[in-house]
Amino acid sequence: MESIYRKKLGAALIGAAVLLAGCHSKNPGTTNSAAKGTAKRWVIGMSQCTLGEPWRVQMDADIKKAARKYPRLKIIFKDAQNSVLQQRAQIAEFVQSGVNLIIVSPKETAPLTEPLAKAYQAGIPVIVLDRAVLGNQYTCFIGASNTAIGRAAGKWIVNKLHGKGNVVELEGSMTSSPGQERNSGFRQAIKGTDIHVIFTADMKWQQSIARREMESALTRFPNINLVYAANDPGAYGAYLAAKAAGRAKKIIFVGIDGLPSLGLAYVAQGYLDATFRYPTCGRHAIAAAWKILHGQKVPKRITLPSRLFTKQNLAEGGQPLP
Ligand code: FRU
Repeated sequence: MESIYRKKLGAALIGAAVLLAGCHSKNPGTTNSAAKGTAKRWVIGMSQCTLGEPWRVQMDADIKKAARKYPRLKIIFKDAQNSVLQQRAQIAEFVQSGVNLIIVSPKETAPLTEPLAKAYQAGIPVIVLDRAVLGNQYTCFIGASNTAIGRAAGKWIVNKLHGKGNVVELEGSMTSSPGQERNSGFRQAIKGTDIHVIFTADMKWQQSIARREMESALTRFPNINLVYAANDPGAYGAYLAAKAAGRAKKIIFVGIDGLPSLGLAYVAQGYLDATFRYPTCGRHAIAAAWKILHGQKVPKRITLPSRLFTKQNLAEGGQPLP
């Protein structure tokens, strides 16, 4: 009985402390209204291009978790279900409903440029995550350098294959900036070596398409030394195809994303030989949003670091890219 009473008293005291802290908040635009009990609530619209991929589910979860640390942030999450049209409509809806800020991870570069530029011109700050749009009609872009990741993957591959061998490249969607840049960085790094890309296909970031494409590569080429896939689901799809054909042990698999629950687990289990971390940007998006909403400047481009993970360096948390 007594302990329940103490707990209740404790909770009441914490509640009072939170209220007092709220009244003395230093956040511009919240101090007076908070004291009057009419605290401003910020509404952020977040359009995710698809929730059909684990990395994007993690991005939304990271945004949600980060937003909990900030008072009075409400996020409206929308899933565009891999449809450019749906995502364009979602941006227009956000503008119409008068959200205070838009966060978007676009499906494709070109088609999302116009609706986001319109939102930006209408005075709504726009934070673009991971996949770029064209031009400069947005407030801030946050992502890692996909060219640097592609180049680092290429260098790792050259080293691993001692400068020669046959590679299957499974590209990410080539209508998106990460797909293009992971390809171009890789190609730059293998230039002038005896590494030959004997088969290329756009697997559109999908494990199932990667698996199908790898099946056809396996039937056409008896000698494949390595698969470079633009993301870990793609690399794993290729691994599954090779395993079913009894050839997985002879092939090296390299992916990108490095989610602890997915890519790193594949490396630990020996399905993938290497993966490169692609940060989800969720935490950074909320930090930038909070600053923008309070009138502070943020850089036009925030580039987050990546890491290389192999079985040898997993325990020590990978290795930063040079
Ligand atoms: C998820 C995803 C990730 C990849 C990113 C690139 O949709 O395919 O696997 O790193 O998008 O934009």
